Amino acid sequence: MADQELHYMSGFGNECATEALPGTLPQGQNSPQKVNFGLYAEQLSGTAFTMPRGANKRSWLYRIRPSVVHKPFEFLGHPTFLSTPFNDVPPTPSQLRWSPQPLPETPTDFIDGIISMGGNGDAASHSGVGIHVYAANKDMTDRFFYNSDGEMLIVPQLGRLLIKTEMGFIEVGAQEICVIPRGVKFRVELPGGEARGYICENYGAQFKLPDLGPIGANGLANPRDFLTPVAAYEEREGDFRLLTKFQGNLWQAEIGHSPLDVVGWHGNYAPYKYDLTTFNCINSVTFDHPDPSIYTVLTAPSDTPGTANCDFVIFPPRWMVMEHTFRPPWFHRNFMSEFMGLVTGQYDAKAEGFVPGGASLHNCMAGHGPDAATFEKASNEELKPVYQGKTMAFMFETRFAVRPTKHAIDSAERQHDYYTCWQDLKNNFNQNG
Ligand SMILES: [Fe+2]
Repeated sequence: MADQELHYMSGFGNECATEALPGTLPQGQNSPQKVNFGLYAEQLSGTAFTMPRGANKRSWLYRIRPSVVHKPFEFLGHPTFLSTPFNDVPPTPSQLRWSPQPLPETPTDFIDGIISMGGNGDAASHSGVGIHVYAANKDMTDRFFYNSDGEMLIVPQLGRLLIKTEMGFIEVGAQEICVIPRGVKFRVELPGGEARGYICENYGAQFKLPDLGPIGANGLANPRDFLTPVAAYEEREGDFRLLTKFQGNLWQAEIGHSPLDVVGWHGNYAPYKYDLTTFNCINSVTFDHPDPSIYTVLTAPSDTPGTANCDFVIFPPRWMVMEHTFRPPWFHRNFMSEFMGLVTGQYDAKAEGFVPGGASLHNCMAGHGPDAATFEKASNEELKPVYQGKTMAFMFETRFAVRPTKHAIDSAERQHDYYTCWQDLKNNFNQNG
């Protein structure tokens, strides 16, 4: 399959069946005595075998060689792609903000270019998240990666990623996301030569669409806008490396062939992409600013109802029409912790400093909200309908406090003066009204 010939199947979490070579998939059973074309059958389970049917995730892969064919893994390590618990520095209750990660000056592929910013929970106990940024300028050609610790929600900010997974090829750019499930092998090419973005590594239950409650059957992210790649494979032999992140560390094994050799597959456990501009915003058309949960694209539930291990929330272009209302996000302090990024445009709670490619962290109970300039403007502006356009901000909102990495705390991109944006919020109190 040529790189340009990318095809997808529409729907979220559906049972799919796809074959790059017609006649690959067995009919009426999963593991016949002999698979067509001399392929091996292999099941990839994303959940326990015994999960209830509605949450059970597995796919059957029909491949040139089974995944067991590789040399033993050896410890590789990684200087900046790390895993919770992050104990190198005490987690600060201060508000944190960073400028964009610079693009690398030396050849750096997608895996080399991952930098952990923080996280919580523990991959070993399948809870919490790792939060990372990436900046890369080199294709992965002879090495492949799969994440044993969690699924990876990738939010490109700059450049495009051509993610060649064992279940098909996905291309994503800014204002799109993709999710690579735990265990799915892939390598990343950079069609534009360089790329930057964000990653939420979800150790917990997989992301799913949120329930809609009184909203009804439609709205927010609609299932048909999620795209799963059709089967595609490469038959390539050489001196390759297979990498995995396992229990927080990177390991590497020699492998003599490309593991992207799945000729056909069927099932409901697969990578997918989503165009954030297709999000159907629900918002106030009377007064007040709704809680940001109304912008939830995907939610990874925890064992506690209504308390997500992680919500992926966006702030897309939308009309602001609320009357007699302070329209930007209000001042608030939360149980949930918020890591924010900006894909493009200008976020409506900040006049400056939060720029595309940058990030902020407002942890559990940290006061935050509009800066002084935004407060003045929003308190006094004439409230006509306004199109909040050309902006795409997002949030990884998680139930545990995010523990920043030492790298994030010591980073040259950290804006140590972030707190000053609120210092001009003056005392306007007048007891006489
Ligand atoms: Fe917030």
